[in-house]
Amino acid sequence: MGVPAIRVQDLKYTFPDGTTALQGVSFTVEAGERVAVTGPNGAGKSTLLTLLNGLLAADGAVEIFGVPVIPANLPEIRRRVGLVFQDPDDQLFCPTIFDDIAFGPLNMGLEPVEVRGRVAKALAQVGLSGFEKRSAFHLSGGEKKRVSLATVLSMDVEILAMDEPSSNLDPRSRRLLIHWLRECDKTQIIATHDLDLAYELTRRTLILHGGKIVADGPTAEILTDQALLETHDLELPYQIQK
Ligand SMILES: Nc1ncnc2c1ncn2[C@@H]1O[C@H](COP(=O)(O)OP(=O)(O)OP(=O)(O)O)[C@@H](O)[C@H]1O
Ligand SMILES: [Mg+2]
Repeated sequence: MGVPAIRVQDLKYTFPDGTTALQGVSFTVEAGERVAVTGPNGAGKSTLLTLLNGLLAADGAVEIFGVPVIPANLPEIRRRVGLVFQDPDDQLFCPTIFDDIAFGPLNMGLEPVEVRGRVAKALAQVGLSGFEKRSAFHLSGGEKKRVSLATVLSMDVEILAMDEPSSNLDPRSRRLLIHWLRECDKTQIIATHDLDLAYELTRRTLILHGGKIVADGPTAEILTDQALLETHDLELPYQIQK
Protein backbone atom coordinates (compact mmCIF):
# COMPACT_ATOMS: atom_id res chain seq x y z
CA MET A 1 0.00 0.00 0.00
CA GLY A 2 1.15 3.56 -0.73
CA VAL A 3 1.08 6.59 1.53
CA PRO A 4 -2.26 6.74 3.37
CA ALA A 5 -4.70 9.46 2.35
CA ILE A 6 -5.20 10.40 5.99
CA ARG A 7 -2.97 9.63 8.95
CA VAL A 8 -4.05 10.85 12.36
CA GLN A 9 -1.71 10.21 15.27
CA ASP A 10 -2.61 10.76 18.94
CA LEU A 11 -4.75 13.80 18.15
CA LYS A 12 -5.88 15.80 21.18
CA TYR A 13 -7.90 18.97 21.18
CA THR A 14 -9.27 21.13 23.99
CA PHE A 15 -11.34 24.23 23.16
CA PRO A 16 -10.29 27.57 24.68
CA ASP A 17 -13.10 27.31 27.26
CA GLY A 18 -11.51 24.10 28.59
CA THR A 19 -13.87 21.57 26.93
CA THR A 20 -11.88 18.57 25.75
CA ALA A 21 -13.20 17.30 22.43
CA LEU A 22 -10.54 14.76 21.41
CA GLN A 23 -8.45 12.71 23.80
CA GLY A 24 -5.83 10.93 21.69
CA VAL A 25 -7.31 9.74 18.40
CA SER A 26 -5.26 7.64 15.96
CA PHE A 27 -6.25 6.02 12.66
CA THR A 28 -5.31 5.90 9.00
CA VAL A 29 -7.49 5.95 5.91
CA GLU A 30 -6.11 4.48 2.69
CA ALA A 31 -6.55 6.28 -0.63
CA GLY A 32 -9.93 5.45 -2.11
CA GLU A 33 -11.39 4.17 1.17
CA ARG A 34 -14.83 5.32 2.27
CA VAL A 35 -15.14 5.48 6.07
CA ALA A 36 -18.06 6.38 8.32
CA VAL A 37 -17.46 8.14 11.64
CA THR A 38 -20.35 7.95 14.03
CA GLY A 39 -20.94 8.47 17.74
CA PRO A 40 -23.36 10.35 19.99
CA ASN A 41 -23.77 14.12 20.13
CA GLY A 42 -20.64 15.75 21.49
CA ALA A 43 -18.42 12.74 20.70
CA GLY A 44 -15.90 14.87 18.77
CA LYS A 45 -16.81 14.02 15.16
CA SER A 46 -17.03 17.60 13.88
CA THR A 47 -13.90 18.60 15.76
CA LEU A 48 -12.03 15.71 14.16
CA LEU A 49 -13.15 16.66 10.65
CA THR A 50 -12.21 20.32 11.07
CA LEU A 51 -8.72 19.24 12.16
CA LEU A 52 -8.23 17.33 8.90
CA ASN A 53 -7.86 20.60 7.01
CA GLY A 54 -6.16 22.50 9.77
CA LEU A 55 -8.97 24.78 10.92
CA LEU A 56 -7.82 24.40 14.52
CA ALA A 57 -4.37 23.81 15.98
CA ALA A 58 -4.24 20.57 17.97
CA ASP A 59 -1.75 18.33 19.75
CA GLY A 60 -0.68 15.25 17.83
CA ALA A 61 -0.24 14.88 14.10
CA VAL A 62 -2.39 14.82 10.97
CA GLU A 63 -0.93 14.02 7.56
CA ILE A 64 -2.73 14.19 4.23
CA PHE A 65 -1.01 11.97 1.64
CA GLY A 66 2.10 12.28 3.79
CA VAL A 67 1.93 16.10 3.99
CA PRO A 68 1.78 17.34 7.60
CA VAL A 69 -1.17 19.57 8.40
CA ILE A 70 0.80 22.57 9.66
CA PRO A 71 0.28 26.27 8.86
CA ALA A 72 2.92 26.33 6.10
CA ASN A 73 1.10 23.56 4.22
CA LEU A 74 -2.48 24.77 4.59
CA PRO A 75 -2.94 26.05 1.01
CA GLU A 76 -1.98 22.61 -0.33
CA ILE A 77 -4.00 20.77 2.31
CA ARG A 78 -7.13 22.77 1.46
CA ARG A 79 -6.72 22.01 -2.24
CA ARG A 80 -6.64 18.32 -1.39
CA VAL A 81 -9.23 18.05 1.41
CA GLY A 82 -12.74 19.39 0.89
CA LEU A 83 -14.65 19.85 4.13
CA VAL A 84 -18.44 20.00 4.15
CA PHE A 85 -19.37 21.63 7.46
CA GLN A 86 -22.20 20.30 9.62
CA ASP A 87 -23.79 23.76 9.61
CA PRO A 88 -24.06 25.27 6.09
CA ASP A 89 -24.01 28.75 7.64
CA ASP A 90 -20.33 28.11 8.43
CA GLN A 91 -19.69 27.30 4.76
CA LEU A 92 -21.74 29.82 2.79
CA PHE A 93 -20.76 33.44 3.29
CA CYS A 94 -20.87 35.10 -0.15
CA PRO A 95 -23.65 37.29 -1.59
CA THR A 96 -24.58 34.73 -4.25
CA ILE A 97 -24.43 30.98 -4.61
CA PHE A 98 -22.21 31.44 -7.67
CA ASP A 99 -19.66 33.28 -5.51
CA ASP A 100 -19.80 30.62 -2.79
CA ILE A 101 -19.13 27.79 -5.23
CA ALA A 102 -16.60 29.75 -7.31
CA PHE A 103 -14.61 30.75 -4.21
CA GLY A 104 -12.45 27.59 -4.10
CA PRO A 105 -11.78 27.30 -7.86
CA LEU A 106 -10.90 31.03 -8.06
CA ASN A 107 -8.47 30.63 -5.15
CA MET A 108 -6.90 27.77 -7.07
CA GLY A 109 -6.16 30.25 -9.86
CA LEU A 110 -8.47 28.75 -12.49
CA GLU A 111 -9.59 30.81 -15.50
CA PRO A 112 -13.07 32.41 -15.25
CA VAL A 113 -14.50 30.22 -18.00
CA GLU A 114 -13.30 27.08 -16.23
CA VAL A 115 -14.69 28.41 -12.94
CA ARG A 116 -18.12 29.00 -14.51
CA GLY A 117 -18.09 25.47 -15.89
CA ARG A 118 -17.18 24.01 -12.51
CA VAL A 119 -19.94 25.96 -10.76
CA ALA A 120 -22.54 24.80 -13.28
CA LYS A 121 -21.36 21.19 -13.03
CA ALA A 122 -21.34 21.19 -9.21
CA LEU A 123 -24.83 22.71 -9.08
CA ALA A 124 -26.09 20.07 -11.53
CA GLN A 125 -24.54 17.33 -9.36
CA VAL A 126 -26.60 18.48 -6.37
CA GLY A 127 -29.73 19.05 -8.45
CA LEU A 128 -29.72 22.85 -8.20
CA SER A 129 -28.92 23.93 -11.76
CA GLY A 130 -29.75 27.60 -12.33
CA PHE A 131 -29.36 28.65 -8.68
CA GLU A 132 -26.22 30.74 -9.39
CA LYS A 133 -27.79 34.14 -8.72
CA ARG A 134 -29.72 33.16 -5.60
CA SER A 135 -28.49 33.99 -2.11
CA ALA A 136 -27.75 31.15 0.30
CA PHE A 137 -29.35 33.23 3.05
CA HIS A 138 -32.72 32.64 1.38
CA LEU A 139 -32.55 28.90 0.81
CA SER A 140 -34.19 26.05 2.70
CA GLY A 141 -32.06 23.95 5.06
CA GLY A 142 -31.73 21.10 2.57
CA GLU A 143 -30.90 23.43 -0.31
CA LYS A 144 -28.17 25.02 1.82
CA LYS A 145 -26.73 21.58 2.55
CA ARG A 146 -26.70 20.78 -1.15
CA VAL A 147 -24.96 24.08 -1.99
CA SER A 148 -22.39 23.29 0.74
CA LEU A 149 -21.66 19.99 -0.99
CA ALA A 150 -21.36 21.86 -4.31
CA THR A 151 -18.71 24.23 -2.88
CA VAL A 152 -16.52 21.18 -2.30
CA LEU A 153 -17.41 19.33 -5.51
CA SER A 154 -16.33 22.36 -7.56
CA MET A 155 -12.80 22.10 -6.16
CA ASP A 156 -12.25 18.55 -7.38
CA VAL A 157 -10.48 17.62 -4.13
CA GLU A 158 -8.89 14.23 -3.46
CA ILE A 159 -10.47 13.72 -0.03
CA LEU A 160 -14.09 14.51 0.80
CA ALA A 161 -14.57 15.10 4.54
CA MET A 162 -18.30 15.44 5.04
CA ASP A 163 -20.03 16.33 8.28
CA GLU A 164 -23.61 15.04 8.29
CA PRO A 165 -23.96 15.26 4.50
CA SER A 166 -27.49 13.82 4.54
CA SER A 167 -28.93 16.04 7.27
CA ASN A 168 -31.97 18.04 6.11
CA LEU A 169 -32.05 16.30 2.72
CA ASP A 170 -35.42 15.11 1.44
CA PRO A 171 -35.61 11.36 0.71
CA ARG A 172 -34.93 11.74 -3.01
CA SER A 173 -31.98 14.09 -2.48
CA ARG A 174 -30.59 11.73 0.16
CA ARG A 175 -30.90 8.81 -2.27
CA LEU A 176 -29.13 10.85 -4.98
CA LEU A 177 -26.36 11.72 -2.50
CA ILE A 178 -25.85 8.05 -1.64
CA HIS A 179 -25.79 7.17 -5.32
CA TRP A 180 -23.31 9.93 -6.10
CA LEU A 181 -21.01 9.06 -3.19
CA ARG A 182 -21.06 5.39 -4.18
CA GLU A 183 -20.06 6.28 -7.76
CA CYS A 184 -17.37 8.72 -6.58
CA ASP A 185 -13.91 7.15 -6.31
CA LYS A 186 -12.40 9.82 -4.07
CA THR A 187 -11.35 9.07 -0.51
CA GLN A 188 -14.34 9.80 1.71
CA ILE A 189 -14.71 10.30 5.45
CA ILE A 190 -18.31 10.78 6.48
CA ALA A 191 -19.36 11.89 9.98
CA THR A 192 -22.97 10.89 10.35
CA HIS A 193 -25.90 9.91 12.54
CA ASP A 194 -27.50 8.43 9.44
CA LEU A 195 -26.49 4.87 10.19
CA ASP A 196 -28.51 3.55 7.26
CA LEU A 197 -26.40 5.70 4.94
CA ALA A 198 -23.23 4.47 6.67
CA TYR A 199 -24.42 0.87 6.38
CA GLU A 200 -25.23 1.19 2.69
CA LEU A 201 -22.15 3.13 1.67
CA THR A 202 -19.15 2.17 3.74
CA ARG A 203 -17.09 -0.92 4.46
CA ARG A 204 -15.46 0.61 7.53
CA THR A 205 -16.90 2.47 10.51
CA LEU A 206 -15.25 4.30 13.40
CA ILE A 207 -17.23 5.02 16.55
CA LEU A 208 -16.12 8.05 18.54
CA HIS A 209 -17.33 8.47 22.10
CA GLY A 210 -16.08 11.03 24.58
CA GLY A 211 -13.29 12.09 22.22
CA LYS A 212 -11.89 8.56 21.83
CA ILE A 213 -12.19 5.90 19.15
CA VAL A 214 -14.06 3.05 20.79
CA ALA A 215 -14.53 0.92 17.66
CA ASP A 216 -12.85 0.77 14.26
CA GLY A 217 -13.67 -2.09 11.94
CA PRO A 218 -15.92 -3.49 9.24
CA THR A 219 -19.23 -1.66 8.99
CA ALA A 220 -20.99 -5.00 8.52
CA GLU A 221 -19.80 -6.04 12.00
CA ILE A 222 -19.96 -2.74 13.89
CA LEU A 223 -23.37 -1.57 12.71
CA THR A 224 -24.96 -4.96 13.36
CA ASP A 225 -23.58 -5.22 16.93
CA GLN A 226 -26.56 -4.06 18.96
CA ALA A 227 -24.79 -4.33 22.32
CA LEU A 228 -21.81 -2.28 21.10
CA LEU A 229 -24.07 0.37 19.58
CA GLU A 230 -26.26 0.67 22.67
CA THR A 231 -23.20 0.96 24.93
CA HIS A 232 -22.32 4.05 22.93
CA ASP A 233 -25.83 5.56 22.85
CA LEU A 234 -26.44 4.43 19.25
CA GLU A 235 -29.02 2.16 17.62
CA LEU A 236 -29.01 -0.46 14.90
CA PRO A 237 -29.60 0.95 11.41
CA TYR A 238 -33.30 0.80 10.54
CA GLN A 239 -32.67 -1.71 7.75
CA ILE A 240 -31.08 -4.11 10.27
CA GLN A 241 -33.95 -3.76 12.76
CA LYS A 242 -36.48 -4.93 10.17
N1 LIG B 1 -16.59 26.09 19.95
C1 LIG B 1 -16.62 25.26 20.98
N2 LIG B 1 -16.24 25.69 22.21
C2 LIG B 1 -16.24 24.84 23.27
N3 LIG B 1 -16.61 23.55 23.19
C3 LIG B 1 -17.00 23.09 22.00
C4 LIG B 1 -17.04 23.92 20.83
N4 LIG B 1 -17.48 23.16 19.80
C5 LIG B 1 -17.71 21.93 20.29
N5 LIG B 1 -17.42 21.87 21.61
C6 LIG B 1 -17.50 20.72 22.49
O1 LIG B 1 -16.58 19.73 22.01
C7 LIG B 1 -17.15 18.43 22.13
C8 LIG B 1 -17.16 17.76 20.77
O2 LIG B 1 -18.04 18.51 19.92
P1 LIG B 1 -18.27 18.11 18.40
O3 LIG B 1 -19.04 19.21 17.78
O4 LIG B 1 -16.97 17.71 17.80
O5 LIG B 1 -19.18 16.79 18.57
P2 LIG B 1 -19.96 15.95 17.48
O6 LIG B 1 -19.57 14.53 17.68
O7 LIG B 1 -19.75 16.52 16.14
O8 LIG B 1 -21.49 16.12 17.93
P3 LIG B 1 -22.87 16.19 17.07
O9 LIG B 1 -23.28 14.76 16.86
O10 LIG B 1 -23.81 16.88 18.00
O11 LIG B 1 -22.61 16.94 15.80
C9 LIG B 1 -18.53 18.61 22.78
O12 LIG B 1 -18.38 18.39 24.14
C10 LIG B 1 -18.86 20.06 22.49
O13 LIG B 1 -19.70 20.57 23.51
MG1 LIG C 1 -20.99 17.35 14.77
